[in-house]
Amino acid sequence: MKVGVPKETAINERRVALVPETVGRLVQAGLEVLVERGAGEGAFCADELYRAAGATLVPEAGRVLAGADVVVKVQRPAPEEAAQLRAGAVLISFLQAARFPELVRQLAGRRVTTFSMERVPRLTRAQSMDALSSQATVAGYKAVLVAAAASPRLLPMLTTAAGTLAPAKVFVLGAGVAGLQAIATARRLGAVVSAFDVRPAVKEQVESLGASFVAPEAVTAAAEAAGGYAAQLGEDQHRRELELIHRHIRDMDLVITTALIPGRPAPRLITGAMVRDMRAGAVIMDLAAEAGGNCELTRPDETVRQGGVTVLGPLNLPATVPLHASQMYSRNLQTLLQHLVKDGALVVDLADEITGAMVVTHQGEIRSLS
Ligand code: NAI
Repeated sequence: MKVGVPKETAINERRVALVPETVGRLVQAGLEVLVERGAGEGAFCADELYRAAGATLVPEAGRVLAGADVVVKVQRPAPEEAAQLRAGAVLISFLQAARFPELVRQLAGRRVTTFSMERVPRLTRAQSMDALSSQATVAGYKAVLVAAAASPRLLPMLTTAAGTLAPAKVFVLGAGVAGLQAIATARRLGAVVSAFDVRPAVKEQVESLGASFVAPEAVTAAAEAAGGYAAQLGEDQHRRELELIHRHIRDMDLVITTALIPGRPAPRLITGAMVRDMRAGAVIMDLAAEAGGNCELTRPDETVRQGGVTVLGPLNLPATVPLHASQMYSRNLQTLLQHLVKDGALVVDLADEITGAMVVTHQGEIRSLS
């Protein structure tokens, strides 16, 4: 069975689906791996390393896309890439099926079997395949570094001959995978950190990282849905949450927002009026920019300045840490492939809990667009 790794074509995407170490393991397991020349360049994985790991280097994308039984990518394929996949081939990548139904129709039309990496079910045995979690870990870490760099302050408390500096106050809104990593990173930099999430279960995790949990009783009632994700709040609870945030945010130097609800636009948690009440020099880092943003002023991929407050809405932070983000994604793919490949061939068993949740197109059919 041939596994193909084309070079990513999306703008600013520097990750690669498989790093040489993983290629070595797959080759050892008896798979053949085709890698497009330069595929790992952005992540500092040189062609020679792939060759040494046992991969076959291929000069152009077309031969990888059309020649592989299983094509693995980070980003969804462009229509021109999808057009080169052959009938019966398997594609594994992030897909965002609900946002790109045309692409899903194209893949179904070409009789490609598509696995969406957003849809790894949140089961204990699938944890090592969970690419949303691995990439959210990277994003949460980098979010704090970027926000700190945009701040006019230092983060730690410093007592120096030139006087004492108070530590920065960081507020993390949404304490899932990215939020918890942001809390840990901000703590390591010496900030005083507080956090809020609608799922009451995270209070303990937040506190164990040395941050305080903000006013839990006001909002967090039964806001947890299936799979550990958040449910949308009722109107009254949402209003109370906004009041809580408004009170708390006036005093903050950095605000990192990560709140998401699967399949819906990101909840609006910071209004323009709240931003006007914030301290001059404060920075908001909106990690939910791609899903519409948690802050009303966020513009995807832009920096907005309002009064003295900077609002950052970066897209795809994991791609800015390409080496480790690729290493983690690659490990996610390796475990998935080990799960799917039986006796040297990839088996699509829709009755399997993991396969059933991830397959979006199969044998010409679209199974789900959500
Ligand atoms: P996510 O990226 O969908 O959402 C981020 C955070 O935003 C969540 O903690 C959510 O509760 C919070 N949020 C949503 N609406 C909010 C609002 N109005 N105000 C404040 N916060 C709001 O979630 P993520 O990070 O992907 O995972 C959530 C949880 O799922 C994890 O903390 C973990 O418990 C669980 N999980 C389980 C896994 C497994 O069992 N394999 C793997 C990964 C996560």
